[in-house]
Formats: sequence, structure tokens, C-alpha cells
Amino acid sequence: MWDYTEKVKDHFLHPRNVGEIKDPDGVGEVGSLACGDALKFMFKLDKNKKIKEAKFQTFGCGSAIASASVLTEMVVGKTLEEAEKITNRDIAEALGGLPEEKMHCSVMGREALEAAIANTRGIDIKKELEGEVICKCFGITDKEIERVIKDNQLSSVADVTHYTKAGGGCETCHPKIEEILLSLKGEVKKEPVEAKPPPKRKLTNIQRMKLIEETIEREIRPALQTDGGDIDLVDIEGNKVIVTLRGTCSSCPSSDFTLKGFAQGKLREFVSDEIEVMVES
Ligand code: FES
Repeated sequence: MWDYTEKVKDHFLHPRNVGEIKDPDGVGEVGSLACGDALKFMFKLDKNKKIKEAKFQTFGCGSAIASASVLTEMVVGKTLEEAEKITNRDIAEALGGLPEEKMHCSVMGREALEAAIANTRGIDIKKELEGEVICKCFGITDKEIERVIKDNQLSSVADVTHYTKAGGGCETCHPKIEEILLSLKGEVKKEPVEAKPPPKRKLTNIQRMKLIEETIEREIRPALQTDGGDIDLVDIEGNKVIVTLRGTCSSCPSSDFTLKGFAQGKLREFVSDEIEVMVES
């Protein structure tokens, strides 16, 4: 399991400033419940236009909670111009560091702060970052990936996955992430590889069960493990795939979205459109 600093553990076990602010001056929402992480960050300004209070609500792992919690302390007393200079690296450093695999939590904190500041100024940041969705598993666009690569000087697909989650699921977006990395290095790939799910074939019962197992191992489990969760296949009854969730997934409030939105989506993509995923009762 991950090696967390005492500060991460402290902010996870005793998160500061959880909740909502009545009539906030800025609100930013990032992430998606379907992808297992979502963060709402808000603040109130004082009469000198400095942040006097910040709060957050999140569905996410311990690092996401710790990142948002420490961020609420970092922004207090700052003007918007000062607060917008906070980078995801500053958030990670304020926690004494985060495991590389969890850096996406600091990125989510920074993005929520940026969205809240933009909201104060009447700008919809989501529109600014609209672009081609590169990673369908996690809904991440080329503009988001490019920005995180530049901000953190990333150089590999694995880095991009650690900092954005893009590429942490079915991996079909890896060639496109590589293209982005190359293009930012000034190189252009001659023949870009089109990422496509494999064609569905007619399967015997045994082949179908094997493919379900393989899809869980290859496409679903690694993404859940990224957030300290896990999944076990319990049984297959026709189109019903019965599983148990373990680790953080078992107690996560968004586990239903993980199952129906993510796990079932992957099994439908790779095995059959008729698959229904359910938790062992
Ligand atoms: S499309 Fe990116 S991991 Fe599946």
C-alpha cells in the first residue's frame, strides 16, 4: 500500500473545513463521481478581497481528502491573484509529499481552486478546458493532459496516469497520450495509432467467462487499485456478473457509480452489451 506522510494521515483522519459556505464568492467543482473522485471547493472573500474562509466536499480517497483539506488552509488570507499561483506541487509539498501514484489528487485540488477563482470572475473554466476527450474511462481531454504535462514536466504515459488518472483503465488511450507527450517535445508521430476497443466476437460460454475474468484483471482492477480499492469476481450467471468490492471501494459513497458507470461499462465494451454487474448480496 502507499507510503503516506504523517501530514497526509492527519488531514485524512481530521479533515479541516469540510462542508459548505452559505453564499460563497467562488465555487469550483471538478472530477466526476463515475470516475471515483469529485471535489467541490468554495470560498468567501473579506472586504479587502482576500479569502477569509474556504470549505470543501469530496468523494475520493484519503489523498483527495488530505489535498482538499490542506488547500483550505493554504488559501486563507490570500488575494485571488496570490491564490491562483498555488500549484498542485505546492499542495503536495504542504502535505510533506504524496506518492507519485496519488499526485492526481493534488491536481484535482488545484483545478477546483482554479475553477472557484474563475467562478468569482464569471468565467466557466470547464469551457476553457474543453477539447477532445482522450481518455474515455476518466473523461479527460487533451487540453487537461497537456496542461498537467507542462506544469509538472511529465515525460511518460505512466506519469500522466499518476497525475490525471488518464490511461489508468482500459489503456486504449495510451497511444494518444504518447502522441501528446511527443508533440509537446516538438516531435510528431508519423502514423498516429487510432485507439479502438477490440471487435466483439461470438464466444462460447467458457471463452466468455475467461474474457470477463481477463477484462476485470486488465481493465477494471488496476483503475480501482489506483485509489486503494479492489474488485473480486464472485460468480457469473448468464449476463449477470456478480462481484465484491474491497478496500476503499467497499465503503466509498460512489461505489454504485464505480460498478455501474465504470466496471459495467468496461465489461459491455469488451465482452457484451448485455452484461449487468451487481454486488454479491
Ligand atoms: S480510455 Fe483511457 S484508460 Fe480507458
